[in-house]
Amino acid sequence: MKKKTVRDIDVTGKRVLLRADLNVPFVPGTTTIADDSRIQAVMPTLKYLKKRQARIVLCSHLGRPGGKVAKELRMTPIAFRLEALLGEPIIYVRECVGSLVRQAAEELQEGQVLLLENLRFHEEEEANDSAFAQALASLGDVYVNDAFGAAHRAHASIAAVTRYLPAVAGLQMEKEMRMLSSALDNPARPLGAVIGGAKVSEKIGILENLLQRVNRLFIGGGLAATFFKAQGHDMGSSLVEPERLGLALDILRNAAQLGVQVFLPQDVVVAEAVVPEAPARTVEVGRVPGGWHLVDIGPRTAQLFGKELRLCRTVVWNGPMGVFEFPRFATGTKAVAETLADLNGAITVVGGGSTAEAVEELGLAHSMNHVSMGGGASLEFMEGRELPGIANLLDKDAA
Ligand code: 3PG
Repeated sequence: MKKKTVRDIDVTGKRVLLRADLNVPFVPGTTTIADDSRIQAVMPTLKYLKKRQARIVLCSHLGRPGGKVAKELRMTPIAFRLEALLGEPIIYVRECVGSLVRQAAEELQEGQVLLLENLRFHEEEEANDSAFAQALASLGDVYVNDAFGAAHRAHASIAAVTRYLPAVAGLQMEKEMRMLSSALDNPARPLGAVIGGAKVSEKIGILENLLQRVNRLFIGGGLAATFFKAQGHDMGSSLVEPERLGLALDILRNAAQLGVQVFLPQDVVVAEAVVPEAPARTVEVGRVPGGWHLVDIGPRTAQLFGKELRLCRTVVWNGPMGVFEFPRFATGTKAVAETLADLNGAITVVGGGSTAEAVEELGLAHSMNHVSMGGGASLEFMEGRELPGIANLLDKDAA
């Protein structure tokens, strides 16, 4: 179902309650922003609203303070970065509901931005509390959700708030919906999916949903170990989920019935321990030494995946091919990223979270058609689940 966006409503002079996902990572132990992509991502919507003289009340969560004030999770660093990106001062209040906030919202001039304090300092946010949602809603005439990264959370500022204000998508949310749904629902074919990550249990939903849609499925990462174990291979000390062996076989069987071509690794990199400097070597699948761990796909596999991915016209990717946090075990992830970055004429859609981190770190994000800002949200979207942050927006054809 297509959703209304900020382009479909009149925002001129109106108070707009704008929910963004400004949940940025910090350099550990500091309040220095390590990656401001999520702040950058809301700029198109902010600029759009400013240009139309809207009075913008901007809100977000930051971290997981669990309903209490946590000094290190105040929105102060975000406020500074917003000012730097906008090139003008904004107003920042250290609360998100109450009389001070209401007064600040009432005094807002056309085109001004008011940033509220971390929504999760109130436990009512995660409880999807109606009164809290109503208090937030009282700050605006309309509600714009640009927080794709939090769209899978049924929280007050995402779900309950939409009972009290007309709710539409922001420009980043619109882009996420368009890119993810066109890749899954209406792709240029062949459609390939590359699925990695540590565990089958975390990828069951996405594997089952994508099986119904893709032409080719590439499986890498730690979760390949469970598939190999299910096929009778000894995987040494690799992480294998014994309770998922049957499921792994079902997935392979279903794929065969549906005519989906599945590519599993042929060779793998194994290490004596999952630590950066551990002794490591490349072995054929089936020759993992006792006590060793699968940490990456091997070079022959990277080449095979590359060759077969080049035949796809749309590729979605979720999950790294190995322990990419350690540079020695990032080769397979890098090879897949480079292949996708180099695919001429194909649409490439990268899921958020660790996959997005990997392509960002490799400096290849700009070569993809879309890198999602949402980790859990893009995973749930690719699982075919309804996300509260999308479901509650007005339908395009609504009056
Ligand atoms: C994210 O970082 O994935 C989003 O901001 C959602 O955060 P959460 O997982 O703490 O709800």
